[in-house]
Amino acid sequence: MELQDTFGRKFKYLRLSITELCNFKCNYCLPEGNACDTPTSGMSLKEINTLVRAFARMGTTKIRVTGGEPALRRDLTDIIQICKNTVGIETVALTTNAFRLNKDAQAYKNAGLDALNVSADSLDPRMFAAITGKNKLEDILEGVDAAIQAGIKTVKFNTVMLKQFNYKELSSFFNYLKEHPVTWRFIELMQTGDNQQFFAQNHVAGESIKSQLLEQGWERIIRSKDAGPAQEFSHSQYQGNIGLIMPYSKDFCTTCNRLRVSSQGKLHLCLFAEEGQSILPYLQDEDVDATVEAICAHVQTKEETHSLHQGFTGATKQLAMLGG
Ligand code: 5AD
Ligand code: SF4
Repeated sequence: MELQDTFGRKFKYLRLSITELCNFKCNYCLPEGNACDTPTSGMSLKEINTLVRAFARMGTTKIRVTGGEPALRRDLTDIIQICKNTVGIETVALTTNAFRLNKDAQAYKNAGLDALNVSADSLDPRMFAAITGKNKLEDILEGVDAAIQAGIKTVKFNTVMLKQFNYKELSSFFNYLKEHPVTWRFIELMQTGDNQQFFAQNHVAGESIKSQLLEQGWERIIRSKDAGPAQEFSHSQYQGNIGLIMPYSKDFCTTCNRLRVSSQGKLHLCLFAEEGQSILPYLQDEDVDATVEAICAHVQTKEETHSLHQGFTGATKQLAMLGG
């Protein structure tokens, strides 16, 4: 059985949030840190195992573990291992703020981690602290070196572009790529339920970064049809590549290849859809068949595109709920 929606899109990629908790206070996401009513426990290992087996049976080949901050869970390496050991799952990836990466990179690799996305919103320690509330840039860059040393194959950085903060530093990111064979992805700030005013002050259209790249000789890389919505660029004088994630661009949703499950066991068809659909009861029963059936049925209701252009941000208050 293959997961497909009514628009012919296939979903081989699952983004699995394992906690809503985060220890950072990114100004576009959780400026005050976690709210006190944030649930503290996510799905159990057994529930995650059932979930992953169900998705694998429907043709999912890649899982990204995300949060909140996934490394706040002590059993993160067990979760990586469960995903990696599931028949059909080829790629296990992790999105992290990297606060534990320096300590745990080797353990992640040993558990089977293939790919890593590290959120780093500035290469200037003071700007980094101003955006994230944490003075940790140096630790994070050391963590990334440790991950490369440990043999994790793909390492990417994620930066949310903010007009009044890191946008002025674009050239320092580009310079980093001269010597480092990593991909740096710039994400256009998205409006969520909680960040309306901040969004109005800080949104930069991804197209303005794209035109600077093209002017400076970066060239678009043709990616495979199922590669997802990021656009990638390379340059002969740079070791690293650049990715652009522009959720407001035309046809962004046409290439959507992912589904999301929250740490509370809800299936979300889009970052910006209304409430997710709970599949937790089936996971609690360790019932793979019933989980498969529930997911297939719900996917048939996936809409063609988000409504961000009309300012509808759905039920997503901030991305810590779902991990981007
Ligand atoms: N807009 C764009 N990106 C966001 N992220 C979190 N909130 C937002 C937002 N409102 C990013 C994080 C992380 C990724 C998972 O999503 O910085 O890199
Ligand atoms: Fe935490 Fe990620 Fe949100 Fe930053 S963007 S506060 S690291 S969940």
